[in-house]
Amino acid sequence: MNVKIREDEFLIPFFKENEFIRKQCKICGSYFWTQNPEAEICGDSPCQNYTFINNPPTKKHLSLREMRQLFLSFFEKNGHEVIKPYPIVARWREDVYFVGASIFNFQPYVTDGVIPPPANPLVVSQPCLRFNDLDNVGPTAGRHLVIFEMGGAHAFNYPNKKVYWKDETIRFHHEFLTKELGVNSSAVTYKEHFWVGGGNAGPDVEACVAGLEISTLVFMVYKIINENLIESPIKTVDTGYGIERWTWLSQGTVSGFHAIYDSILNKIFEYAGLKPDEKLLAESSKLSGEMNIESLKDKIEARKKVAEKTGLNWVELDKILTPIEAAYAIADHTKALAFIISEGVVPSNVEEGYLARLLVRRTYRMLKLLGIEDKFLDIIDLQISYWGNDFPNLKLMRNEILEILEAEKEKYEKTVEKGVETVKKLSANLKAKKIFEFPIEYLIELYDSHGLIPEIVKEIAEKEGLQVL
Ligand code: SER
Repeated sequence: MNVKIREDEFLIPFFKENEFIRKQCKICGSYFWTQNPEAEICGDSPCQNYTFINNPPTKKHLSLREMRQLFLSFFEKNGHEVIKPYPIVARWREDVYFVGASIFNFQPYVTDGVIPPPANPLVVSQPCLRFNDLDNVGPTAGRHLVIFEMGGAHAFNYPNKKVYWKDETIRFHHEFLTKELGVNSSAVTYKEHFWVGGGNAGPDVEACVAGLEISTLVFMVYKIINENLIESPIKTVDTGYGIERWTWLSQGTVSGFHAIYDSILNKIFEYAGLKPDEKLLAESSKLSGEMNIESLKDKIEARKKVAEKTGLNWVELDKILTPIEAAYAIADHTKALAFIISEGVVPSNVEEGYLARLLVRRTYRMLKLLGIEDKFLDIIDLQISYWGNDFPNLKLMRNEILEILEAEKEKYEKTVEKGVETVKKLSANLKAKKIFEFPIEYLIELYDSHGLIPEIVKEIAEKEGLQVL
């Protein structure tokens, strides 16, 4: 939804008192607020590269657990009630399978005024799942994840009861960042934007530090009805603090996965016999702020840029980085699987079960690339132990998680065996007819009848010399 933000939308006392000025990014054209009169770009990726790698702008180095605690206690100290996270499987919603932001917990019933919120204002660190950036999980060094925790500080303002709004929201954010974590105030930019999600919308600012967007502070004033923005009587403060990104920023590690997964990631590297060159990863990571992989072409372009910087040729570089990025994605996907299966999702061909199956298959393919498919369940078990203290349901459901994934893995192996034969036969028939493009109808048919996902078919058919779009 392309909505123009009014010039005075963020003319708040906090910005005025602290001499923030409104500027326009010379690259993307967005308006942003900064204390630095010289600033010319908004500070967000892809306009800026990461400058925090091996150079964290915070005075504290925090683990994910410490960052979550610091975030929750800061807001508690500031009058918010800490609530427990909701499930990730969004069974109360008709429009989504998984919670993709902390505000999803309260949509639509609280945001529509059907029921009151559990506390007001409240704060939560909510595990979330997003599938829209799958191809970027790994290549962007940790900016994109399937599973992450969103720190949500929320206030629900009713016509007869106001809690707080823009000024206080941005003040809280800035205080947490600069006073609690010691980031230099002039290094923070607030980029204007318009957020839409879960049937609501409103203007927001995206807070960026050192090239990384770390939070989104949304002021939900609209409900979306038949694609129209209708002003809602309830005005909701919807903030999302990316707890993993904040953790990464505080550590300045060569990837976000290093900051989040630490010993698990090392174990995956060890299983796969990978000994990453930290210097190379740091160079590549710094540039990945500019990266957004939407196609193979983007990936090659990105590789070429890093190659130029490091003096390697891009094909060589690709050979080094691809397995490392696969290890990153494995760390992310196996955590996501442990969480959703602990909540009762069973891999299948429909709804959330389909997404679970997709994750198993993606993970399995990457494990295969690293030659460690036999370690799938060991890695899942590591995730259960690692996160189980903070999310006890994982430990309670340990046996079920492992059993379900073992069964799914076996099914997948059988499917691939059969599928390879079928795709080979189809490819031979096509080639005999001088057709060198694999028809899309076949992809659909193979999925419906054999449960073979297009990515696998593509892999096999391409080996047979066919083009798959
Ligand atoms: N809902 C907003 C987001 O997802 C802020 O939490 O970014």
